Amino acid sequence: MITFAHISDLHIDLRERATERARRLVAALRPMHDLDAVLVTGDIADHGTAPEYDLVRELLEPLRVPVLVLPGNHDVRETFGPGLLGLPSSGREINQAVTVAGVDFLLCDSVIPRRSDGELSDATLNWMKAALDGREGDGPVMVAFHHPPAVLHIPTIDRIRQHGEQRLAGLLKARPEVAAVLCGHAHTAATTLFAGRPLVVGPGCVSTTLHPAEPGAQNVVSPDAPPGYALHVLDDEARLVTHFRAV
Ligand SMILES: [Fe+2]
Ligand SMILES: [Fe+2]
Repeated sequence: MITFAHISDLHIDLRERATERARRLVAALRPMHDLDAVLVTGDIADHGTAPEYDLVRELLEPLRVPVLVLPGNHDVRETFGPGLLGLPSSGREINQAVTVAGVDFLLCDSVIPRRSDGELSDATLNWMKAALDGREGDGPVMVAFHHPPAVLHIPTIDRIRQHGEQRLAGLLKARPEVAAVLCGHAHTAATTLFAGRPLVVGPGCVSTTLHPAEPGAQNVVSPDAPPGYALHVLDDEARLVTHFRAV
């Protein structure tokens, strides 16, 4: 069993508002007992500058567990890699396989540079297939990326979701070891199914996107809704249970 927190879309921009909201999340996660990891599903910086990633490192540093990060459309590969992962600067996809408490996390790059929508490139899908083929254990796998590969029925988000998702669905159909898919980008805590697996969208830190049925939805985004996190438990039957909190 593994218990991990999931935060997303910090959009750190060196202004006090985004910084304070990220600090609030970290302060809520830091005292948790038996937390195995914190997953951050992209848009970690707002403009992808090196000083923004310096501040991100400082903000996440108090977390005493492994922090798994992946890029979103506001991040910039050339600075994200050096700033958060100690990698040389490169414009290539940042895909990582990380094992925490016997669970393999495949952290994928769904970014199309300089665009808001996303897709998994051929290189990333090939990497994912090779990573699944090359696993040593037979424990569950969590797949994570920034852009949701499914319609969430919020038109402004659906336009910029992850497209070409049929290829990922086809890959996952033959891979029952993938227990769930986790993402961000939509700035709303949401769940649905993708390829028969749970798809969980982590709540946004910097803002919350409103569903058209909600009062005030003409403004699309509620800046006043509090930042939130998802607390995921993947149990020994590889069943994912998710609790959502606002702080
Ligand atoms: Fe975002
Ligand atoms: Fe995004």
